[in-house]
Amino acid sequence: MIPTMRKHDMNKYSTARVARAVLLLAAAFIAAVGTPLNGLADGIPSTQELNGVVQEAYAKFKDVKDGATADYIPELAKVPADLFGVAIVTADGDVFTAGDVDYAFTIQSVSKPFTAALVMQDYGSPNVIAEKIGVEPTGQKFNSILATQVVPQVSVNPLVNSGAIASVSLVKAKSKEERFERIMQFFQQLAGDKLSVIEEVYRSEAATNQRNRAHAYILFASDRIYSDPMEAVDVYTRQCSIGVTAKQLAVMGATLANSGVNPITHQRVLDARYVPKVLAVMMIAGFYNESGMWAYTAGLPAKTGVGGGIVAVVPGKMAIVGFSPRLNEAGNSVRAMKAIEYISDTLGVNLFGNAH
Ligand code: DON
Repeated sequence: MIPTMRKHDMNKYSTARVARAVLLLAAAFIAAVGTPLNGLADGIPSTQELNGVVQEAYAKFKDVKDGATADYIPELAKVPADLFGVAIVTADGDVFTAGDVDYAFTIQSVSKPFTAALVMQDYGSPNVIAEKIGVEPTGQKFNSILATQVVPQVSVNPLVNSGAIASVSLVKAKSKEERFERIMQFFQQLAGDKLSVIEEVYRSEAATNQRNRAHAYILFASDRIYSDPMEAVDVYTRQCSIGVTAKQLAVMGATLANSGVNPITHQRVLDARYVPKVLAVMMIAGFYNESGMWAYTAGLPAKTGVGGGIVAVVPGKMAIVGFSPRLNEAGNSVRAMKAIEYISDTLGVNLFGNAH
C-alpha cells in the first residue's frame, strides 16, 4: 500500500515537474516570439481566430439594411444592394473569407492610395506627394469644391477627388493610354491577379463627372495639375472603374501590410519605404469627413470607395476588407465599416492600443 502510494506520488511529482518545465519553456517561447499559434513569430493571430472572426463579422452584420447604394453615378445604383463580403489576407498569404467575396465591384476611391504609392515610386521619393498634392485632412466630403479652393497651393491630399486627379496626372507616361496602363499594371501586381475595367460604370461616370472636371480646372488654373486636366479626369475615371473582388482587394491591402511584397506572388511591388507614407494618408483621410471617427473606433489606416469596398491595413499582419454597396451620408459602406470595426476590436489590432 505504502510503496504503491509512494510510487503514485512520485509519478505525480515527476509528471508535475515535467509539465511545469514544459510550461516554463512555452512561456519563454511565447515571450520571445508570440503564441505558438501565431504563425512564424510575427504576431499574426491564429488560423482559427482569423477564420472565426471573419465568419462572425459576416453573420453579425449580414442583415443590416442601413444606407443606400450610390446613385450619382447612375450605373452604381444597379449593383445588387444585398451583396456582402468579408475577407482577410495575412502578410503570410493566408486567405479567410465569408459571403460575396468573388463579386467584382468598382474599386472607386479605394484606388487612390495605390496610385499615390505609384507616384512616390515613380519619383523615387514620398516628397512628391507632400509637396505637389499635400497630406492634410480636409474635414470635408470627398468631392468638396470648397476644400480644393481653401488651400491654393496644393490639392490638399491624394485621397480626396482633387488630390486623386492630381495624383493620376503625376504618373509618368507619354500618353493617357500609357498612364492608365501603368496604373492597371501596378494594381494587377498588387492584387496578384488580372483585373478589368467595368465598362458600363466607366461610361456612366464619364457621362456624369462634371464635378470632377470642375476640380481639374480649378487645379489647372493654379498650376496644381501636371498633365492635361481632362486627360487626368478621364484616366482617373477609368482607374475608379477597375473591377476588384473583396478577395483581390484584400491581397492589394496585404501587399501594403507586408511592406510592399505581394504575399501570394512574393513579388516586390512597392519599395518598403513608401508604405508608411501611404498608410499615414489613409489614416488621416481614408474616410473623408469621418476619418476622425474611424480612427477613434477602428484605429486602422483604411480607404473607402462608393462601390462599397473598404480596405483596412494592420501593418505587418494583414488586410481586412469589407464589401457592401449600401453607403452612409459620407459615402462609406455601412456594413463594411461595421465588419472591419468588429474585426479590429475582436482581434485587438487597433493601432492605438487594445481597449479590452
Ligand atoms: O470621383 C468619384 O466621385 C468616384 N469615382 C469615386 C468617389 C469615391 O469612391 C468616394 N469614396 N467614398
